Amino acid sequence: MAKPTIWITRTLSDATLERANRDYDVIWDPADKPGNASDIIGMSAKVDGIIPCHSEHFSADVVAQLDPRLKIVANHSVGVDHCDLVALADKGIVVTNTPGVLSDATAELAMMLMLCAARHAVEGDRIVRSGAWDFWSPAFLVGKQLTGARLGIVGMGGVGRAFARKARGFDMEIHYHNRSRLAPDEEAGAIYHADLDELLAVSDFLSLHCPATPQTIGLMNAARLAQLPQGAVVVNTARGNLIDEAALVQAVESGHIAAAGLDCFITEPGGNHAFAAFENIVMMPHVGSATIKTRDAMGFKALDNLDAFFRGDTPPDRL
Ligand code: DGY
Repeated sequence: MAKPTIWITRTLSDATLERANRDYDVIWDPADKPGNASDIIGMSAKVDGIIPCHSEHFSADVVAQLDPRLKIVANHSVGVDHCDLVALADKGIVVTNTPGVLSDATAELAMMLMLCAARHAVEGDRIVRSGAWDFWSPAFLVGKQLTGARLGIVGMGGVGRAFARKARGFDMEIHYHNRSRLAPDEEAGAIYHADLDELLAVSDFLSLHCPATPQTIGLMNAARLAQLPQGAVVVNTARGNLIDEAALVQAVESGHIAAAGLDCFITEPGGNHAFAAFENIVMMPHVGSATIKTRDAMGFKALDNLDAFFRGDTPPDRL
């Protein structure tokens, strides 16, 4: 029987590409450029499935123009805000994602950003690296301690829970807001706030781990940032549009927010150059899940979903 043809839009891990090439007729361009609307529409007539990343946008307009040959979009991401799920479902296209396997890598990056933001890592690195380190004092680069501080987590899915586990190792007091309260064993002593505003009021550190949806876009606006305690640290490894970036700039400028650690931005790639004026904002270019182990696991999960679909089974991560 002929192998299904799939389009892999970006450069996935070597092990993923090797397995994909073994089991499918693969279209993949090593130039590694994001697929635009016309690439996606054109490719849909040539392939049975696509493994896209969050860099390929399946808007309602794009989905309306997809060729009926395309049967499955097996995302290489847990976030699916780049896909109009209603339009894809209406068109009968199956959509899957990669939950679970990137939780630890993303939580590790959130921890790195939180520590770097709290302890002036950007400024310290710049001073030593540039040869400008000619002074020391007990008053020099004094930061904010994690131990014993209150950590607020918004979104207790896989990444939020992995982050809470890591933060417990730093003896932080964990608070969280989630659509529903976790079971006691998953909560593991974390304090639930049904009301987001109540969570913000006790968050010396705040870390965002919820998906971008119409309900959460712009979640951290000026009013919500103002509810955080004076000198709070904000971390975002979820999606850039959860934060009103202009409001964050103002809150950092005023000193109400002491520091921020950001792995995602409203404009990607590119980021927000207004943040670059602040050494107390540490930034990474959307690489939360970028470890060798996790890239393999994400690629394999996408392939597991495709394999199940083409066998005639329900893919394990069907949305
Ligand atoms: C995800 O999986 O959603 C990450 O942001 C990488 O795309």
